[in-house]
Amino acid sequence: MSPTAPRDMPREPWRDVDACVLEATRAIPTMLSEAEQRLYHWLAARWYTGAGVIVELGCFAGGSTARLAEGLRLSGRDGHIHAFDRFRVNEAGKRQHLYPAGIPAFEGEDLLPLARCLLAPWQKRISLHPGRIESQSWSGGAIELLVMDASKTTATADRFAGMFFPSLIPGRSLVVQQDYLHWKQPWVAAQMELMADAFRPVAHAPHHTVVFCCEAPVDAAMLARGRVSGLSEAELTTLLRRARKRLRALGVAREVVPLIRASRANPGVGQASEMARPAS
Ligand SMILES: C[S@@+](CC[C@H](N)C(=O)[O-])C[C@H]1O[C@@H](n2cnc3c(N)ncnc32)[C@H](O)[C@@H]1O
Repeated sequence: MSPTAPRDMPREPWRDVDACVLEATRAIPTMLSEAEQRLYHWLAARWYTGAGVIVELGCFAGGSTARLAEGLRLSGRDGHIHAFDRFRVNEAGKRQHLYPAGIPAFEGEDLLPLARCLLAPWQKRISLHPGRIESQSWSGGAIELLVMDASKTTATADRFAGMFFPSLIPGRSLVVQQDYLHWKQPWVAAQMELMADAFRPVAHAPHHTVVFCCEAPVDAAMLARGRVSGLSEAELTTLLRRARKRLRALGVAREVVPLIRASRANPGVGQASEMARPAS
């Protein structure tokens, strides 16, 4: 199948992916919903052309990376995935995400050996970048697909935009914001709103993923305008109201309401782990 131009992209491309293609990656634990897994597969198998690399921020044990890599393999195209994570997991994380998925118990907090082992079938297509993403740099050239699941603070959201957005290809690249509709990280939606001149929402997959097409270069001025660190609660709420309006195009405007409630209930909080769930 020929690659689809962003303008022609279906609003819910994952509906075109048969669930049986996920069987090859089923054993690898992931926090993605089934729809999100099908979206990742579609993006790598049917949309990605190789005009730039795929970069993934926050891959945990490699579950989301595997769904991308399997899509890439089935496409028959060359391409490479750069997956960044600190690759650390505590006992609670193991009990919540790894052991229920059938991973045998292991000692210590290092997740890298497990991720390497789980991703072995696709290893020639994947480079793992362990460590804090904000302490690294990107000089790997153009990025055609940027998958983001690590903007857990306003500071890292700003830092990751500065590190990776300038490498996007205007008119071609997609940014997948896996946490866009998660109430614990309302600054992700605010960031994309502040940079609305460069990013247009093009697709959604439940639970929380919204995909953006990059339509203009992201330069230093755009990055300065897009900063979410230090936004007041009123500024954040105004931006989220704008996001709600813009997401009508994808039929998910109502899903922004919990973000607005969370932002109001947590003035000045810029860290997902410190966000308190608002009373409903
Ligand atoms: C929600 S998990 C990712 C789940 C994965 N995308 C999946 O669905 O299978 C978020 C990941 O981001 C990583 N992360 C968050 N902030 C980070 C940072 N500043 N540097 C490196 N990794 C980070 C965490 O270690 C964690 O593995």
